[in-house]
Amino acid sequence: MKTRLREANASSIAQAAALVRLGQPVGFPTETVYGLGANALDRHAVRRIFAAKGRPADNPLIVHVTSIADVKRLVVDVPPAARKLMKRFWPGPLTLVMRKKNVVPDVVTAGLDTVAVRMPSHPAARRLIRAAGVPIAAPSANRSGRPSPTTAAHVLVDMDGRIPVILDGGPCEVGIESTVLDVTGKVPVLLRPGGITLPQLRKAVGRVSVHRGVLRQAKGKHAARSPGLKHRHYAPFARMVLIQRTKLDGFVRRLAGGSGMLGKKRIGVIVFGSAAPYLDNVIVKDVGRRPVEAGRALFAALRFFDEQHVDVIVAQDCPRADDWLGVRNRLLRAAGFKRA
Ligand code: TXA
Ligand code: MG
Repeated sequence: MKTRLREANASSIAQAAALVRLGQPVGFPTETVYGLGANALDRHAVRRIFAAKGRPADNPLIVHVTSIADVKRLVVDVPPAARKLMKRFWPGPLTLVMRKKNVVPDVVTAGLDTVAVRMPSHPAARRLIRAAGVPIAAPSANRSGRPSPTTAAHVLVDMDGRIPVILDGGPCEVGIESTVLDVTGKVPVLLRPGGITLPQLRKAVGRVSVHRGVLRQAKGKHAARSPGLKHRHYAPFARMVLIQRTKLDGFVRRLAGGSGMLGKKRIGVIVFGSAAPYLDNVIVKDVGRRPVEAGRALFAALRFFDEQHVDVIVAQDCPRADDWLGVRNRLLRAAGFKRA
């Protein structure tokens, strides 16, 4: 299959929407990361998403909509907290997990009795959903396990030959995925931190608990609540480790010096608003000192290091504050929870 990369405009969006109606998956921009979208109500179409990504069937997808009426077709009821959150943060990077109706095929939800729903704000995503006339199930448009794509070029690297078209809507504004919040219980549970921060959620609805898998490796029964938590994620090809800022320079210098027969390693370094040792086999990416900037640049930095064929990525551990939770979660997972 030839994959076409097309600027998102009225004609390319209309053609992509026609492909969606025919049961094909298409690459498209959202404000968070690029998505791989297909008709959420057509299980054959949704299976093609899993095939193109190489995604495990037990990891459910998010359904993208453009109206509250769409949501009501998909879920049994909209809890009061969800209503508040939709009013406050939609359209935008917040996904709500609610009890599903039977119209939502099991392949979308990996057999769960809940469905994750979000209303994106990116104009091209909204036009695509409207033109297709169906809700669109879409995971991030990367091969399973890889960093999420934040440009159309990233999508092409992972999906070339696997999907018919990628709509190019420019680099993503948020850069990390949407926040996933389970609102089926008394107290909302944060399953994945993302574009909307924990402080923002708490300000809107009061108590919010944080699933333990957000900052820890999820195992056993804890993994079941959000199956996505147990899979390897966001991983660059290079080995990656996290390290405290105070130890970073010494560690990078030692590593860069190389040891005997092995020769010098190429090292990629991620820092948050600071400098790192300037050496010829070290490439430094400062992704910024604020969580919003860092989120926007993080996945692109990981993919850049892969293109540069670095052997090791050393990332500064970011602040432990609540508004850094999204970035911290991605860093920990990209590094497979490894520390230097
Ligand atoms: O920003 C985003 O959310 C992007 C763009 C394309 O919208 N999409 C995205 O999808 O990140 P994906 O498939 O890469 O991540 C979906 C996450 C996974 O962690 C999955 O386990 C969780 O949402 N999820 C989906 N349905 C769920 C459900 N019913 N219950 C709990 N977690 C669910
Ligand atoms: Mg993903």
